[in-house]
Amino acid sequence: MAKITFITSDNETITVEGTSGSVMELAVQHGIHGIDGDCGGVCSCATCHVHVAQEHMHKTGAANEIERDMLELDDDADEYSRLACQLQLDEALDNIVLRVAK
Ligand code: FES
Repeated sequence: MAKITFITSDNETITVEGTSGSVMELAVQHGIHGIDGDCGGVCSCATCHVHVAQEHMHKTGAANEIERDMLELDDDADEYSRLACQLQLDEALDNIVLRVAK
């Protein structure tokens, strides 16, 4: 079980809980504005782009190589960027804060 807090581009803060699957799937299930998951989670659309709160980067680690290739195409990407479809829900992510990319 992990509790995940999303901050949308409208500055809405939404906290949801999940036990399995990816953070993208959890966000889509809960209708988190700005996370679309267009490619279904195969790391080829970047519509699940989030910025991890700086103090929580240790919970996720940095983006993997395939993610970095996708994020390079996004002007809003920074060193805290991750693709939510590449984050699997587990205890390590509990209480993480993710800002949805614009
Ligand atoms: S859902 Fe497409 S890259 Fe994450």
